[in-house]
Order: sequence, then C-alpha cells, then structure tokens
Amino acid sequence: MSRGRTAVIVGAQWGDEGKGKVVDVLTQTFQIVARYAGGHNAGHTVVINGKKFILQLVPGGILRPECTNVIGNGVVLDPLAFLKEVAALRDLGVKVEGNLFISNRAQVILPYHRMMELGSENAPGRVKIGTTSRGIGPAYEDKMGRRGLRVADLLDTELLRTHIENACREKNMIAHALFNSEPLDADKMFKEYSAAAEQVAPFVRDTALLLNRALAEGKSIVFEGAQGTMLDIDHGTYPFVTSSSATSGGAVTGTGVPPTSIDTVIGISKAYCTRVGGGPFPSELKDAQGEELRKRGNEYGAVTGRPRRTGWIDLPQLRYAGIINGISWLVVTKLDVLDHLTEIPICVGYKINGKETDEAPAQACGYDKIECVYRKMPGWAAPTQGIRTLEALPKAAREYLALIEKETGARVGMISTGPDREQTILVPEFMKQLGLNSTTESHGESP
Ligand code: GDP
Ligand code: IMO
Ligand code: MG
Repeated sequence: MSRGRTAVIVGAQWGDEGKGKVVDVLTQTFQIVARYAGGHNAGHTVVINGKKFILQLVPGGILRPECTNVIGNGVVLDPLAFLKEVAALRDLGVKVEGNLFISNRAQVILPYHRMMELGSENAPGRVKIGTTSRGIGPAYEDKMGRRGLRVADLLDTELLRTHIENACREKNMIAHALFNSEPLDADKMFKEYSAAAEQVAPFVRDTALLLNRALAEGKSIVFEGAQGTMLDIDHGTYPFVTSSSATSGGAVTGTGVPPTSIDTVIGISKAYCTRVGGGPFPSELKDAQGEELRKRGNEYGAVTGRPRRTGWIDLPQLRYAGIINGISWLVVTKLDVLDHLTEIPICVGYKINGKETDEAPAQACGYDKIECVYRKMPGWAAPTQGIRTLEALPKAAREYLALIEKETGARVGMISTGPDREQTILVPEFMKQLGLNSTTESHGESP
C-alpha cells in the first residue's frame, strides 16, 4: 500500500488569513487533521451553512465526524482552555469522542505562564509585543529551557505535584522581584490541574506514532498551521512574533512526521493584508480606506476582539513566505472584501534607501526604512460574494489573481468569496492534485 497524501496549510502573512476555512474545505477528502504549533492564541473560524464555529486548539477536522484530529507535540496546551473548547463543541452537537487526540509530548500551559507574560508585557523597558495574554511565550520558554511540563507528566499525579510546587516557588520569586506580582497558590493549582488531567487523559496518545502508522496505511493528512509566516519565531518580524515555528517546517517537528512525507505546502493569503498586535507592517493603511477594509472584512480578532490593522496585499512579503515555506499553491481568501473598489493598489516591490530589494530585513527597525512600490490595478466594483467558478469572476478580479500568481510564482488553487464553506472557487488542477470534488460537501454528515 502506498503512503497517504499530505498537505501543509500555512499562513502566508501575519495570521488570520482564513486557514480554518481552508482546512475545512480540504477535510472533504483528507482523513486526518494535525495541528502542529501555537496554542489557544489561535482563532480559526469555520462557517457551515451559516453556522459559525471558532476553534482555538481543536483542529478543523472536528466538524466532520469521519475525520481524525490530532493536537501535535509542537502545540502548547492549556488543559482548562482545551476542556472548555471541547465542552462548547459538545454543546453545539459536535462529536468529540474517538476522533480527537492530544500528543503526550505537547507542552502544558500553567497559570504562572500567564503571570510571567502579563508582567513582562507591562514591564518598563521591555518591548511590548501586544500578545494574546494566553501564556504562550513563557510556556515555550520553559519548553526550550528544559523545565516544561509535558502532557504525559500532567497525567503523572506525583510528578505533577512536585513540578507545580517547584515551579510556583521559582516563578513566584521571579515575578515578585521583577514585576511585583501577587504569588500563585501551588496547592490550589495542583488540585485544579490534577482534576483537569483526569478529563484530558482519554484524549492522550503517542500521536507521532499514530500519524506515521496512518500514513503507512494510506491515510491522508492535512497539517494545520496556526499564526502565520511573519509571526514565526525564526522567520517572522522578530521580536514582534509568536514563540513557535508557524512556518511549514514546524509541521515536521511539531508532529513527528518526517520531512520526506510532506507532499504539498499550501500558503493562505488574504486578497489584502492584516496583522494584530505590534510590529512592522509595510503596506499598512492608516486612513479611511484601511478603516473601510476593517469594516468590510470584519477585521476584529477572533480570540481577543482587538481591531486588526489593515493594508494592501504585499507581494515581496508573499514571495518571502513562498521561499521560506516552499509554497506551491496559494489560496486567496476574502476576495469579496475588495468588491467596493474601483482601483486596488498592490505592493509589488520594496525600496530601501531608493534601491529596490526583495530582502526581508532581519531587524524590526529595518522595516521602518522600507518604501512600498505600488502598482494600481483596476478594481472590479462588482459583487463577487458567493461566486463558485473562476469564469463567473469579473475580468478585473481574474487579472488581480493572475498578477499575484505571476509575482509570487505560486499557482492560485483556491479562492474564497465569503466565510461559508460553500463560498469557494476550486481550480481544477488543484482539485485533481488534492483529490477534491467540485462540491465542498463531504460524504459524511456535518453538524
Ligand atoms: P484563521 O486564523 O487563519 O483561521 O482566520 P480567522 O478565522 O481568524 O479569520 C478569518 C476571518 O475571515 C473569519 O472571520 C472568517 O469567517 C472570515 N472569512 C474567511 N474567508 C472569507 C472570505 O472569503 N470572505 C469573507 N468576507 N470572510 C471570510
Ligand atoms: P491564527 O492562528 C493573528 C499575534 C499576537 C501578537 C503576537 C504574539 O488565528 O492566525 P502570542 O500570544 O502568540 O505570544 O502573541 O502574535 N498572534 C496572532 N495574530 N492570528 C493568530 O493566530 C495569532 N496568534 C498570535 O496578536 O502580535
Ligand atoms: Mg485567526
């Protein structure tokens, strides 16, 4: 039997590109979804027949009962947030039994991670990142510092007790000294987390083994990224990034599947650009046009509700994402948000000190020197919402997509024309390569 097909879904910008929707469309035929990085800082929205689901830790395949879902070892798991999300899904009638697994090697977020993050975000002299305040950064710090707690340890009651006692003593001292924080109660924490561990236990597996066995049996896997390329700890706009490997390489280390098992990398980009939190954003709009994009695109964070910063599509940035991730297919989402425009500026190049360059600065301050070179494309000024074939798109919209293809060197395989699963254009060659049908419905029942 030949190995199952695989595809990585990666955010090509600064997150919130519409990864949740794309994963949902692919699970029409893919059998497993494996989330490889981040934590409940992510907010992935899926809309099915008008019904909206926001997923944070649980992979998008949960909305198809026949799909298996894995939270990989690269994820930082807040057990309380996980149980809350699972309870909310159950309330909505979603099946969460026997189809959702957590890696025994995933790292655990504990309350002192939030305490440390809160302190450092507000500390004088520290760079304020504008994080989601979920404890993500400090949890990854403990992982790399080899003092983290893994899910397997969470289930080991005696180890959990000792870990919490020691960690609380240390973190309380540091947080008091640096930020004058109130100390956390280790005993209370142990009680809460040992109770949570009992509920988490049935989900825990050696998921690297599970995934590799599934592949050998011919099962197909979508690797679900969180955040985006420019938020990657190594390749993003450091230090204004998250603390994990959001790029496609993270799919390998974050799940335990070898690089030789990755067939395709699919980059997701909005037809324009957004970012939440602080940090560089060369094509940002700070005027009424930016506000209009925010309003039309409903650009408010799915997790924190913060208004997202908005701007034009940035092709040098997408070329960079293409190189770092090995993107062969692009999915362009939210095309309908540009329907009102008669003219659309596209950032086609960067100039630094008057010289054209495609090199992404290694320092955040390097972005201050960037001057975007814009090309104005004619807008279509016509509704595209819900359009399902390329032919039905206005000519100017097709030309807009063609320019993105030409300038990034990636093929556009899918276009999203609205939040709903059905509001999707699938390009025949993309469908053929990924084994998708023309209809976005699955054989199975949806919630
Ligand atoms: P993710 O984090 O990459 O999964 O993206 P989010 O879910 O955070 O943000 C994308 C937002 O855009 C969600 O509210 C989606 O429902 C919405 N969305 C996705 N595709 C489209 C589209 O083609 N058009 C419109 N208008 N909204 C879309
Ligand atoms: P999805 O998966 C957009 C941003 C935060 C902040 C920075 C660091 O929905 O695309 P963190 O809490 O991770 O330490 O914050 O990263 N950020 C996101 N922005 N979408 C996300 O996830 C994000 N996850 C984190 O706003 O600027
Ligand atoms: Mg999001």
